[in-house]
Amino acid sequence: MGRTTVSLSGWELDNPVIPASGTFGYGQEFSELYDINCLGSFSFKGTTLHPRFGNPTPRIAECPAGLINSVGLQNPGVDHVLAVELPRLARFYKKKVIANVGGFSVEEYAEACRRLDASEQVGILEVNVSCPNVDHGGMSFGVSPEAAAQVTRAVKAVTKKPVYIKLSPNVTDIVPIAKACQEAGADGLSLINTLLGMRIDLRQRKPVIANRMGGYSGEGIYPVALRMVWQVYEAVKIPIIGMGGVSTAAEVIEMMLAGATAVQVGTASLIDPWACQKIVEELPQVMEQYRIESLQEIIGGAHHG
Ligand code: FUM
Repeated sequence: MGRTTVSLSGWELDNPVIPASGTFGYGQEFSELYDINCLGSFSFKGTTLHPRFGNPTPRIAECPAGLINSVGLQNPGVDHVLAVELPRLARFYKKKVIANVGGFSVEEYAEACRRLDASEQVGILEVNVSCPNVDHGGMSFGVSPEAAAQVTRAVKAVTKKPVYIKLSPNVTDIVPIAKACQEAGADGLSLINTLLGMRIDLRQRKPVIANRMGGYSGEGIYPVALRMVWQVYEAVKIPIIGMGGVSTAAEVIEMMLAGATAVQVGTASLIDPWACQKIVEELPQVMEQYRIESLQEIIGGAHHG
C-alpha cells in the first residue's frame, strides 16, 4: 500500500482525490488536458434512466466564493453512457469510475443502477438523493430518512457493487439521514451536495437563474461541508467520501482528519481545469509538512486528539 493509497469498500485508490460529479463530465475533455489516470478515480455526471435536456438557461450565477448552478441533471441517459461514454473512457482511463446516478422514483434509481451493475468499469455506485435542481425527485429523496432508506434498499437489491448515498446539506440535521442509509445497507456515504441558494439581478430585478434557485458550491461552503463530515463520522461506521469547496491538498487532509476516507473536488476544476492534478501532485509535500506517513491512517484523526 502506497503512502497516499486509501481503500473504499475494498477498492484501493492510489490517492483520495476524486473529481466530483457534474464538474468532470465523463472524463473526455479533461483527458485532453492531462493524464487523468493520476486521479484516485472520478465521479461521472449524474446519470438518469432516461436522457435529460436539463433546466432552462441561465443556469449559472457566479458568487464571490463559488457559484450557483441549476443544470437540472442534463445527461444522455444510462444506456448511452453504457454504450458510448464508458467504452470511449476505456480508451484513455484505465481505472474504475464512480457512477453517479440520479432519479425521479425509487424504481428509476434501481433500474439505472441495475443496468450499471453490468459494467466492469464501475467501481462504486454513488446514488444522488440530493440534487436541488429538479422537481419530484433528486433532493426530495434525500431530505427524509425514510425516503433515503427506501432508495438505498431498492438499489442494494439490484447490485453487488458498493452503494454510496450522496447526501444533501439542505436539512436541519444530516445525521438521522446518514444513519437511515447505513441501516438500509449503504456501503458508504458521499457528502455534501450543494447548498440551495440564489442571486438577484439588480437591473432586471429578477433572479439570475431561470429556475430562480440553484445549488451553491465552491470555497464558501467548505466549512459547512467539513462540519457535516465530522458529524456524520461520529454517527456511522461506513466510509465517507467528503466534498464541498475543497480546492487544496491541505483541505483534502483536513477533510480526512474530519472523517473522510476520500475527497471529491468539484468547483475548483471549473476555475482551474488542472486543479485535481495539482492537488494530487501537492499531496506528498503537504504530508511531509505535517509529518503524515500514510493517508489511510489519518482518517478521522481529529476525533481522537
Ligand atoms: O442540476 C444538476 O445537474 C446538479 C446536480 C446535483 O447537484 O446533484
